[in-house]
Amino acid sequence: MGSVSTAPDAPAPAVAPLRIGPHESPTPVVLAPMAGITNAAFRRLCREHGRGFYVSEMTTSRALVERTPESMRLVTFDPDEHPRSVQLYGVDPATVGAAVRMVVGEGLADHIDLNFGCPVPKVTRKGGGAALPWKHELFTQIVRAAVTEASREGVPVTVKMRKGVDEDHLTYLAAGRAAEAEGVAAVALHGRTAEQHYSGQADWDAIARLKEAVTTVPVLGNGDIWSAEDALEMVRRTGCDGVVVGRGCLGRPWLFADLEAGFAGRAERVRPGLGQVAATVRRHAELLVEHYGDELKGCRDIRKHIAWYFKGYVVGGDLRARLGLVDTLAALDELLATLDLDQPHPGETAEGPRGRAGSPQRVALPEGWLDDQELSGPALAVVRQAELSVSGG
Ligand SMILES: Cc1cc2nc3c(=O)[nH]c(=O)nc-3n(C[C@H](O)[C@H](O)[C@H](O)COP(=O)(O)O)c2cc1C
Repeated sequence: MGSVSTAPDAPAPAVAPLRIGPHESPTPVVLAPMAGITNAAFRRLCREHGRGFYVSEMTTSRALVERTPESMRLVTFDPDEHPRSVQLYGVDPATVGAAVRMVVGEGLADHIDLNFGCPVPKVTRKGGGAALPWKHELFTQIVRAAVTEASREGVPVTVKMRKGVDEDHLTYLAAGRAAEAEGVAAVALHGRTAEQHYSGQADWDAIARLKEAVTTVPVLGNGDIWSAEDALEMVRRTGCDGVVVGRGCLGRPWLFADLEAGFAGRAERVRPGLGQVAATVRRHAELLVEHYGDELKGCRDIRKHIAWYFKGYVVGGDLRARLGLVDTLAALDELLATLDLDQPHPGETAEGPRGRAGSPQRVALPEGWLDDQELSGPALAVVRQAELSVSGG
């Protein structure tokens, strides 16, 4: 990978290794679970650049208990992956408990992360994801069920959440304290409400407040880290114990090398030329084909990464469009060979925001969900029906 040295704005903050239960990473970084992205192939690419925790795409507890082929694919790991971090979603304590029992009992994972941050309507409409912590007792019961089952095998459980449903219905401080009391190994906060989806800016002050409220386990900050400098700044401003990085690494798995260097106080940053980017795309596609055991599926998956990889580089619109339609590795090779492989890194235009953004959206919720924080009446019935196959966000 080509790299240039840039002087960091300020010295790296002193940060201890990140401990999640028995697992430790000298670099306090977590790859955020991203549905449709953080499969074993993408995690391998990222892991090759730096140390950290690398979390799977979310799988639903119900699908896992039913052993659907797709959920079983979601909990596959490379033999050298450690710890194996699985993200689970669920709205029913018994089902989440059963899924955790299965995962730890069969030795499928070394760390379980619970998803309480998903804002997509088909999830929140059922009371799941970012809607769930509003029902405080239900949230507590789910965390308790997961921790009880996981602790039988010494597997740590973490929770990942948003600030709340909206600014009038914030849940993160109460949820963070409850999760800590139930014995989780860390709590992560994405500094947005569900209503914000991915719009605006993540509220890092909320991460600082959570850090004040949760004192006995690591607090991880998430939202809008696009560079090593952002990660260092988040730690400096919030006092958080580690950072969770999502969209910033889309099309830039080498961000984990920058993060490792940044946290170690080193100034070098990876700034690949187009030839190196093309080689990474090729390798990513190959790993995806291997992961799915199906060339077409692997090629279909790489299509969504193309725009992120080539952001800021001079690549004609026609070529981009054709790259976005590849269906074989041979076709991909042919197209990549037409790129100007000597093109250097273009600078700032290749950095910065990428992936989901958009505008605030009214949160789809079960009827009467916000009326009170107890689970009763119609809301109870909705939650009982809610253990469906859903995909994340
Ligand atoms: C494509 C995509 C898929 C996501 N899927 C999940 C998911 O399955 N589980 C989850 O907890 N968060 C999911 N998220 C949210 C991220 O984990 C993260 O919290 C969010 O993107 C904010 O971090 P960032 O600003 O570093 O991207 C997803 C985000 C994106 C962009």
